[in-house]
Amino acid sequence: MFGRLSTVAFQGVDVITIDVQVQIISGQHAFMVVGLPDKAVAESRERVRSAFESLGLSFPWRRIVVNLAPADVQKEGSHYDLPIALGLLAATKVLPGDVLEDYIALGELSLDSRLAPISGVLPAALHAASLGKGIICPKACGGEAAWAGDIPILAPATLLALINHFKGVQVLSPPEPMMEEAALGPGRVLDLRDIKGQETAKRALEVAASGGHNLLMLGPPGSGKSMMAARLPGILPPLTPSEALDVTMVHSLAGQLNEGKLIRTRPFRDPHHSASMPALVGGGLRAQPGEISLAHKGVLFLDELPEFSRAGLEALRQPLESGKVVISRANAHVTYPSQFQLVAAMNPCRCGYVSDADRACSRAPRCAADYQSKISGPLFDRIDLHMEVAEVSAEDLTKPATGETSAVVAERVKRARDLQEARYQALGMSIRLNAHADGELLDEIATPDEEGLALLKKAAERFKLSARGYRRVIRVSRTLADMEGADGVLKRHIAEALSYRRLHVK
Ligand SMILES: Nc1ncnc2c1ncn2[C@@H]1O[C@H](COP(=O)(O)OP(=O)(O)OP(=O)(O)O)[C@@H](O)[C@H]1O
Ligand SMILES: [Mg+2]
Repeated sequence: MFGRLSTVAFQGVDVITIDVQVQIISGQHAFMVVGLPDKAVAESRERVRSAFESLGLSFPWRRIVVNLAPADVQKEGSHYDLPIALGLLAATKVLPGDVLEDYIALGELSLDSRLAPISGVLPAALHAASLGKGIICPKACGGEAAWAGDIPILAPATLLALINHFKGVQVLSPPEPMMEEAALGPGRVLDLRDIKGQETAKRALEVAASGGHNLLMLGPPGSGKSMMAARLPGILPPLTPSEALDVTMVHSLAGQLNEGKLIRTRPFRDPHHSASMPALVGGGLRAQPGEISLAHKGVLFLDELPEFSRAGLEALRQPLESGKVVISRANAHVTYPSQFQLVAAMNPCRCGYVSDADRACSRAPRCAADYQSKISGPLFDRIDLHMEVAEVSAEDLTKPATGETSAVVAERVKRARDLQEARYQALGMSIRLNAHADGELLDEIATPDEEGLALLKKAAERFKLSARGYRRVIRVSRTLADMEGADGVLKRHIAEALSYRRLHVK
């Protein structure tokens, strides 16, 4: 007796079709799963057996062999329960085998035969669509699968409901695609207007948003750095439909989708500085995506930057450049997207008050140099905007908030981004933002006028700008020009861009 159908294995964002073959032969009673199963897959046997018994189905007490092919791909996770159970149902002729051929099945079984939610349903559904197949998944994941387009979806709550569907006793209605509600609900939306004073810092935040530049904020405790960073997603344009699908896919693989709803707001991730390397860049037992991938197309906020482990910070360098992260495993390399905008915040020294003579500790200014040296030059070099945030004055704090709202700023940001997109598209480039322009392209689009060039030269000599630092200034100038809708880069753009170069950071 034989049953077969398809399921999937995940390798990063790549989805691989796995053939499940179930054979029942005579011989000594055994239930074997072969084809590189991990512990969770091996445990499927117990869950499947228990689910059969809870349904009162006679379990074949014979020799059962489940083969998961191709054999050289590691099978990980609990989503193999459902395909194994269905294969067994086909082999025992409870279900007709041919109806299963049109589907990819995945789901975890609980002991009482309910189907529990699993990660990775959206990428699996997209994969099924590309094969011209439908998908069978737990009910809780149906809304997620529905985003894969017009494919047949069966999302039962229990194994019994699925059996009844195939027998024509009870019809399963197709699930509706589900969307996430507005990020935080009314009254809790983080608005730029809440920030009093700090006009220079707010301007830098807008520049970062407009050109997609990475941003470092340096300032004493309580100056509003964390507050500012949390408001960056609110001034970025909303995700495009294809970006939303990309972001949702990574969250689905990480098992972090809220009830399978499509994510439409830009991610904002703020891992604690004690986060481990796998938590930060991805990896661990099942090569899960890390914070930098969960921040894909959004903002990664590293508060108290020097407190992060040096290895963790260095591991950011490659993804910052390439927009993806490659995790090496024993038998494969796994790639996740990680195109995030980095916002980092730090105090100038451990006590935080090195620039305030009255409050600085006795080790100033030595401690500032020590503290800041924890961050390597190459990492600093990948951050276009360095900004000093001053303490909020008492006067500003006592005044009512009268600044611009996030909505107003977001509109300007969108205009500046549209200009960049049109320019790079006309040039036939794949990049969309100034932050990703470099080399000759930068010379072509952002060479300043004569006055600007003279200022830049003077500054380069005076501040000993490195080649990278020089490029950073030009890149930011281009964004400043775009924010005004100006064609060329002028002296005033260079002057402002120079103000965002490293200040007190050694
Ligand atoms: N410009 C401001 N306008 C209104 N409130 C502010 C401002 N700056 C700071 N605050 C208030 O101070 C609190 C602390 O700010 P925040 O946590 O952003 O400071 P921080 O610079 O991140 O400090 P730390 O270095 O200690 O992390 C905020 O929750 C907010 O209530
Ligand atoms: Mg803070």
